[in-house]
Amino acid sequence: MTPLGSSLFPFALALLFSFFWATWAHTQENFLQCMTLRSENSTSISKLIYTPSNSSYSSVLQFSIQNPRFSTPATPKPLVIVTPSHVSHIQASISCSQTHGLQIRVRSGGHDYEGLSYVSNVPFVLIDLINLRSISVDAENSTAWVQAAATIGEVYYRIAERSRTLGFPGGIATTVGVGGHFSGGGYGTMLRKYGLAVDNIIDAQLIDVKGRFLDRESMGEDLFWAIRGGGGASFGIILAWKIKLVPVPSTVTVFTVNRNLEQNATKLVHRWQYVTAKLHEDLFFRVRLTSVNSSREGKRTIQASFISLYLGVMDKLLPMMQESFPELGLMREDCIEMSWIESILYFAGFPADKSLDVLLNRTSLTRSLFKAKSDYVQEPIPELGLEGIWQRFYEKEGETALMFLTPYGGRMSEISEDATPFPHRAGNIYNIFYGVFWEEEGTAASERYISWMRRLYSYMAPYVSKSPRASYVNYRDLDIGSNGKGNTSYRMASIWGNKYFKNNFDRLVRVKTTVDPANFFKDEQSIPLFSSGWKKGGD
Ligand SMILES: Cc1cc2nc3c(=O)[nH]c(=O)nc-3n(C[C@H](O)[C@H](O)[C@H](O)COP(=O)(O)OP(=O)(O)OC[C@H]3O[C@@H](n4cnc5c(N)ncnc54)[C@H](O)[C@@H]3O)c2cc1C
Ligand SMILES: *[C@@H]1O[C@H](CO)[C@@H](O)[C@H](O)[C@H]1NC(C)=O
Ligand SMILES: *[C@@H]1O[C@H](CO)[C@@H](O)[C@H](O)[C@H]1NC(C)=O
Ligand SMILES: *[C@@H]1O[C@H](CO)[C@@H](O)[C@H](O)[C@H]1NC(C)=O
Ligand SMILES: *[C@@H]1O[C@H](CO)[C@@H](O)[C@H](O)[C@H]1NC(C)=O
Ligand SMILES: *[C@@H]1O[C@H](CO)[C@@H](O)[C@H](O)[C@H]1NC(C)=O
Ligand SMILES: *[C@@H]1O[C@H](CO)[C@@H](O)[C@H](O)[C@H]1NC(C)=O
Ligand SMILES: *[C@@H]1O[C@H](CO)[C@@H](O)[C@H](O)[C@H]1NC(C)=O
Repeated sequence: MTPLGSSLFPFALALLFSFFWATWAHTQENFLQCMTLRSENSTSISKLIYTPSNSSYSSVLQFSIQNPRFSTPATPKPLVIVTPSHVSHIQASISCSQTHGLQIRVRSGGHDYEGLSYVSNVPFVLIDLINLRSISVDAENSTAWVQAAATIGEVYYRIAERSRTLGFPGGIATTVGVGGHFSGGGYGTMLRKYGLAVDNIIDAQLIDVKGRFLDRESMGEDLFWAIRGGGGASFGIILAWKIKLVPVPSTVTVFTVNRNLEQNATKLVHRWQYVTAKLHEDLFFRVRLTSVNSSREGKRTIQASFISLYLGVMDKLLPMMQESFPELGLMREDCIEMSWIESILYFAGFPADKSLDVLLNRTSLTRSLFKAKSDYVQEPIPELGLEGIWQRFYEKEGETALMFLTPYGGRMSEISEDATPFPHRAGNIYNIFYGVFWEEEGTAASERYISWMRRLYSYMAPYVSKSPRASYVNYRDLDIGSNGKGNTSYRMASIWGNKYFKNNFDRLVRVKTTVDPANFFKDEQSIPLFSSGWKKGGD
């Protein structure tokens, strides 16, 4: 660039910016007018629409952001936020966005790991469903209707309010929203007994691209199949789910046993891999790995926490553990008997004396910046392989990292790979969640932690599933086969598509092409359209 060019550059940029801003301010104005025209009561709709000039715009935007990595001054913000309280407001938002060429993002609980429910690189409207979160439990028939922005904690609370012997097999973190969580699968401590949340959904309500209100019968089995694991954002806006509640015993037993490297953690984790997926399906026995300062000598060590839920009493659990995993040395004093709903608090990390009301609190216990990834393990990792993980946890960035090893088997192995879009069934011993967390602001810190995470992920390649190296869509990861610029061509998308959905990806593409042929419901990892370059089986 010439000296003249470079001195003009900031000026040109400012000019360009004000040009775009004027254009988008105009679009925003038109969108607002459209919303007013389309609503029966313009006074009530205006109370549900926020632009950056409304003083509460920021707090409404911030409220459900679970990963502050996507809440910096540089993060693109919505032109408008709509918080519908009625179906007609959603219909108006879809239609007005289409008319004025705006993209939409839909948010329920805001837990998307990459912020896709509230960030976009093109001008967009955020449809925040926060006001749509009613839950009605029919204990007699063991069913419930739950609206999209209800959190899973609220769902558990309302079930427990009606019955001590009914539960639901959803997520462990109580603040996740059922809108996103169920549409990507949804697992928790009862997956070995009852499968995923999606395996227990019997009806749904959805607003499609034409603004039609559909239920299971009117949407048809293909679309109903697609939204139960294919990710929420590709097919429409899910308003509510009808779920089948499952029986839980009045007494369950939990334990957490910590072992560090000096207490044979490596051997125990190694052995755990041979045992965990074959245990009785009433037993959920996972591992959390962290690096800690050992109390003696202030030396660092690795801690393996063996955390368990048993759907039954302690007197039955103890002999089971003694028989299958005597090496752990589980003792009566390690175990606590409680109700199923109390076990929800236990796993979510609340102290034992907390009132159940914490389940209604939508604010997470911690909100650090984070980067996460996932893997599936089909062959036990040798001890040497585990030791390489410990080495990475000893690095500076590894101090705040965490891995969860979540066992499959049981009911998970009985459900066929194509019953829902979620394909990770028989053949998987366990799922890995990798997370690294930090507080420092700024891109330099982010880059350091993210690159640490990528190095760990690349180290793990030989030990995890291959062709494809599978991933869990609810643990969204834009590193896997996306150019980060919203390129949703089939060729690009099939890279992450095969990881998340395996052979179900092509059926998702067919459903997408039928129900949203103009690709209105779109983000960086939405299901692409069937395109001319597309061949059966992909390329
Ligand atoms: C702290 C934490 C703990 C977690 N624990 C678990 C766990 O125990 N088990 C588990 O399985 N997963 C867990 N997850 C992952 C979680 O299931 C996913 O992040 C899930 O997508 C969150 O749903 P949401 O509604 O809260 O998120 P959002 O960010 O609101 O939505 C996620 C995606 O779904 C889309 N979407 C949301 N609502 C709708 C709707 N109504 N209609 C159409 N599309 C919609 C969004 O556009 C976005 O693409 C956890 C995540 C976090 C951050
Ligand atoms: C319109 O909405 C406002 C605020 O919600 C309410 O007070 C008013 O009664 C409504 N008017 C009609 C005609 O429904
Ligand atoms: C935002 O500001 C506009 C214009 O002042 C107002 O009409 C609207 O009601 C405000 N929105 C909310 C949610 O208060
Ligand atoms: C249980 O379901 C039946 C059949 O759908 C219905 O008639 C009945 O009212 C339901 N029970 C309750 C308590 O809602
Ligand atoms: C570790 O394992 C060895 C044998 O494998 C055993 O002798 C020892 O007691 C164990 N240590 C602990 C702390 O469990
Ligand atoms: C562990 O020790 C190091 C060095 O003394 C310290 O910086 C760090 O904060 C400690 N970590 C924890 C979790 O206590
Ligand atoms: C909700 O939880 C957050 C985080 O634990 C806490 O700061 C807040 O006080 C809680 N709110 C209520 C109403 O209890
Ligand atoms: C998307 O990626 C494909 C393959 O790399 C490329 O051919 C196409 O031009 C890209 N499209 C957009 C819109 O960036």
